[in-house]
Amino acid sequence: MRKITLVPHQVKYAKEMSLLTSTSEVKDALGLQEEHTTVEGTIGFIEFILEQEKAGKQYSRCIFNENEKLIGVITLKDIDSDKRSCHIGTWIGHPYWGLGYNPLAKARILYTAFTELGLGYVFAGAKVDNIRSQKAQEKLPYITLFVEDDFPEEHKKLEAQVNAPCILHVIEKEKFLTWYRETANLGGRISMEDIRKMIRESKTLVGPFPSFHVNELPDYPHELFLEWFKAAVDKGVHEPHAMTLSTTDPNGSPDARVLIMKDVDQHGWYFASSSQSEKGKQISGNPNVALTFYWSLIGRQVRIRGTIVEMDKDINAKDFLKRGTIARAITLLGKQSSILHDQRELEEALTNEIEKIKQDLPIIYPDWTLYRVNPLEVEFWQADEDRKHTRVKYTFVNGTWKKDLLWP
Ligand SMILES: Cc1cc2nc3c(=O)[nH]c(=O)nc-3n(C[C@H](O)[C@H](O)[C@H](O)COP(=O)(O)O)c2cc1C
Repeated sequence: MRKITLVPHQVKYAKEMSLLTSTSEVKDALGLQEEHTTVEGTIGFIEFILEQEKAGKQYSRCIFNENEKLIGVITLKDIDSDKRSCHIGTWIGHPYWGLGYNPLAKARILYTAFTELGLGYVFAGAKVDNIRSQKAQEKLPYITLFVEDDFPEEHKKLEAQVNAPCILHVIEKEKFLTWYRETANLGGRISMEDIRKMIRESKTLVGPFPSFHVNELPDYPHELFLEWFKAAVDKGVHEPHAMTLSTTDPNGSPDARVLIMKDVDQHGWYFASSSQSEKGKQISGNPNVALTFYWSLIGRQVRIRGTIVEMDKDINAKDFLKRGTIARAITLLGKQSSILHDQRELEEALTNEIEKIKQDLPIIYPDWTLYRVNPLEVEFWQADEDRKHTRVKYTFVNGTWKKDLLWP
């Protein structure tokens, strides 16, 4: 199976690269002189590429195949961050021509162009007499051909650079990504490979993060939580009040889901749901629960363990009436987490409930419950980019809060 990996340039690849570019097929196609293809000339080329990359003008990668052999180079050049565009250029060593490496490498680097580099257009040009290159480009399912009239400036620039008449094609972000996603859905090997790469290369705990002074800790955990919550809001954390509630079922198996925190005070953390939902039933079987907040933008996690207390009926009713019409209507159906056989059933049932609510009848769902988690342990975790994370745990012992630092 053909496979490629794109690897940043290094001077140590110069010898292999020089061997590949010295063949007349590659040298002529690229219009290179003899001196460009020597090892020294290739080192010069690599150093130029690295400089250009530093300046944000190019993104160039060596193509390695499934046998970890260097087989060519693919480059996004003339990156224009204002126009969000660039040009693409690829060469593959002659022994590897016609084996399908070129489209694999193109798909990989174009994905990077449109996602990581934020570009919108990637131009692909070729000299009019370079029929081989044109044929390869025409086969790409996501390319728009012959756009010279739509992008006259780009066309002119290209012809001036290579000093010859050229054709111009373009790859547009949406068209490419649609093709890419469809290929991934079909289990296409290019995209699955790329998705795995994305998983491996996804970054975690990228700062800068706020500082956390452990010698200025408040006496109560809810006070520190409120400080951290405010910091999350100030920094623009999305949905800072979303948290994971973990419960256990009658067999002791854990379950978890995201909920919205409704309030926090000296008694604990509040959320609302139906007591007849799965979580509601699990809570009535075992009131020991955990809450987890994670605010990635500021590298902070808060973990709360405690026991559940239910609020009085009138407080529950008030909370229910504060909810939006559709949220109330859905709850009134009383079916959360039971199997829905057809989406139309939901629409029909909802219309009915919404009608009743619109008549301003103060209908209360009797099982709607505002729950409070009375905390027994609260841990504050502050990420550090060097992985020397700071952890502070508050534990409720004999009526007071004890504070400890924890090893990261
Ligand atoms: C951001 C977010 C907020 C949510 N807020 C609530 C909520 O406040 N109350 C609720 O019952 N479900 C909420 N849900 C839905 C729950 O995650 C869950 O699907 C639902 O409560 C059923 O869970 P259960 O089957 O364990 O009872 C929310 C989901 C998300 C993603």
